[in-house]
Amino acid sequence: MSDTKTIAVIGATGAQGGGLVRAMLSDPDREFSVRAVTRDPNSDTARALAELGAEVVAADVDDVESLKRAFDGAYGAFCVTFFWEHFSPDKEAAQVRNMATAAKEAGVEHVIWSTLEDTRQWVPLDDDRMPTLMEKYKVPHFDGKGASDRLFDELGVPTTFLLTSFYWDNLIHFGMGPQPGEDGSLTFALPMGDKKLPGIAAEDIGRCAFGIFKRGSELIGERVGIAGQHLTGEEMASALSSALGREVKYSAVPFDVYRSFDFPGADDLGNMFQFKHDFEDMFCGARDLDFSRSINPALKTFDGWLAENKERLQVG
Ligand SMILES: NC(=O)c1ccc[n+]([C@@H]2O[C@H](COP(=O)([O-])OP(=O)(O)OC[C@H]3O[C@@H](n4cnc5c(N)ncnc54)[C@H](OP(=O)(O)O)[C@@H]3O)[C@@H](O)[C@H]2O)c1
Repeated sequence: MSDTKTIAVIGATGAQGGGLVRAMLSDPDREFSVRAVTRDPNSDTARALAELGAEVVAADVDDVESLKRAFDGAYGAFCVTFFWEHFSPDKEAAQVRNMATAAKEAGVEHVIWSTLEDTRQWVPLDDDRMPTLMEKYKVPHFDGKGASDRLFDELGVPTTFLLTSFYWDNLIHFGMGPQPGEDGSLTFALPMGDKKLPGIAAEDIGRCAFGIFKRGSELIGERVGIAGQHLTGEEMASALSSALGREVKYSAVPFDVYRSFDFPGADDLGNMFQFKHDFEDMFCGARDLDFSRSINPALKTFDGWLAENKERLQVG
């Protein structure tokens, strides 16, 4: 039996959890044993994690009993939810309750919960600067997470609350990258006006979580935010221009226009960008760059991320 501490990782085959798994498995000291949690241990991604040295176990965040088994004997657990699979903050809250309940019952000593702000603390429902969505949210995919923070506290689960940032990878996977216009020029559209958007390489979220676990109990009970850089749309367009060797113009899309785009969740994302814009100081201030680098010295800048990923941007 190994005497290393085991960390159970929810979403191990995805962006955040995957980054944590890879960070732990590539650690020369192998300080932690990795338990990768997936719904399907036979998927190609899960098998690849097993080949890298992870223990792979089956569990579903909708099934608390499966989570209890997955967390059994673990020292730590990384918890994340998957809003864009179901678009339901209520379902997200139920899943957080399942993870917190399982962590409590399994006696997990340190949970990292990947959360975001409950924006209604800054924009109450009667604030009509942005529409209320689903009758009780302003930014559903933020609010459901932030409102669920208390579930860990109420159950007495030792937890670090990790405020994440906009993945730069959204420029590849979420269709948010520069788009060619009719004249062939490239436009980077983002509803951020002249304000700064905290961004991060998705892989760095897991690396930061690894840095938090490495600090032992120091950050338990703390609310910590991470970002690779805080950049305006102009600054991102300039970095994109340099990386691609083609001029990329920034277009500050109005919030209402963004909300009316024809894709699921456009209203949620439009409200999210307006929140980040209107509360720039608070939102950037909660994601300290020096702190992020202190727990993850390899933290990437946007230029660094672009150097590795520019070929993956589908710019036509
Ligand atoms: N995109 C952004 O800029 C951004 C920024 C901050 C926060 N976030 C938040 O990040 C969260 C998503 O994290 P991610 O990007 O790491 O996810 P992801 O890359 O989409 O990974 C999702 C993984 O979770 C697993 N999964 C899905 N449903 C599950 C379930 N019911 N039970 C257990 N596992 C399940 C899946 O693994 P299996 O198929 O192997 O089970 C999948 O590989 C969202 O809630 C989003 O709001 C996103």
